[in-house]
Amino acid sequence: MGDFDALINTKDGIQSRRIFHDQAIYDLEMERIFARCWLFLTHESLIPNTGDYITTKMGQDNVIVVRQQSGKVRAFVNSCSHRGARVCAAEAGNTRSFVCSYHGWAYGIDGSLQGVPLEKEVYNNQLDKSSHGLVEVALVDNFCGFIYGCFDPQAPSLREYLGEAAWYLEAWMGAPGGTELIGPPSRSILYCNWKTPGENFIGDMYHVGWTHASSTQVLFSQSPLMALQGNASLPAPAEVMGMHFTSRGGHGAAITYGGRGGIYTTARENEMLLAWLAAQTPKVAERLGEVRAKFYNSAWDGTIFPNNSFLVGPNTFKVWLPRGPGAIEALTWTWVEKDMPKELKRIIARNMNQTFGTAGMLESEDADNMESMTQSNDGLVTRRGTLNAQMGLGREREDVVMPGVVSDAMINELSHRGFYRYYQEMLVAESWDELRANSSKWKKAHLER
Ligand code: FES
Ligand code: FE
Repeated sequence: MGDFDALINTKDGIQSRRIFHDQAIYDLEMERIFARCWLFLTHESLIPNTGDYITTKMGQDNVIVVRQQSGKVRAFVNSCSHRGARVCAAEAGNTRSFVCSYHGWAYGIDGSLQGVPLEKEVYNNQLDKSSHGLVEVALVDNFCGFIYGCFDPQAPSLREYLGEAAWYLEAWMGAPGGTELIGPPSRSILYCNWKTPGENFIGDMYHVGWTHASSTQVLFSQSPLMALQGNASLPAPAEVMGMHFTSRGGHGAAITYGGRGGIYTTARENEMLLAWLAAQTPKVAERLGEVRAKFYNSAWDGTIFPNNSFLVGPNTFKVWLPRGPGAIEALTWTWVEKDMPKELKRIIARNMNQTFGTAGMLESEDADNMESMTQSNDGLVTRRGTLNAQMGLGREREDVVMPGVVSDAMINELSHRGFYRYYQEMLVAESWDELRANSSKWKKAHLER
């Protein structure tokens, strides 16, 4: 691998194209990022009762996430301790045990091995069941009901891992009545590197007016975002339209002020959403203050490092599961506020599927870019080159209210640079102690030019 500075030039916002191609880099990402970071698993609302479970992946490891009798959520590697077959084939359900389909070993929802067929006859009762439970995911916790897991017991708490991003995320994840995900997620395979959608969602407002010029005209005709169409001009200076933030941990987002409303196809639907936002905003302001109340009414595109992205407005929530350097499985949910009227939830889910669902218009347009920016690097000469994320470079600043590092323009690549700065840090660092030691220095590194 060698020179990490040649892979990511953090100071100048330049990345090597090899990060979208090389198997050796991908293998290191699995070890240093996916085996050490907090990864999105599911939402409290999808497994409310004892024995409720879902299956998903952390990196390329299959896991089961299951609600315990105590109410706690635990996660286990979905692979039998006997010969390694999966112990749960279903995507979601409710159970009292997981029984392996190969020879029938049975595990409790606490992961313990409880039953072995013909135990006396073929093992002479000498099999030590207590040491053959399912491997447990070291850490599981939730932030505002969104459940994440981490394989590394040395990792910081989820709250600490989210860094300054937690302050921003509370503006929508911590909506007054709480949130829920509408599941099960839709699934699609895209032939792109896992970082390409992550960097797109983390704040690429630049592509919206161009890549999505036609679909926004059809779908968002009443939205303020329509003004971006064709990239011909901006209706107001980019710094008036919104901002970018990046936080410790590589998380970030672009926030477009006032852009959450007006994205539906009929005036009545838009009015319903605007009425909802108007009723909730004072509650958000009271609890979180005016700045975050403004963010609650804004459109967002963001990524929680490494592979969890979301939009506020189209209300999509996604995980990009890596499948080698050139492929991902994308999982897509709709997020809604728990106490919204049923009809509004239905409108939001329909809109999300039209836009960012598996066959959504904007999803298909984005997928084409994700795949081409990955596959062009199959060319040996092509991948010797570099990529540019310099937009807004030198305009980063600190703010008295907003934590992290911010930049006053919603068309910007500050959060791209934050993502790749942390990406490089994770690849280089041998341990969480080393990462913790860098925590006091990360802002300075972003701000100094
Ligand atoms: Fe699971 Fe044999 S592999 S019981
Ligand atoms: Fe897009």
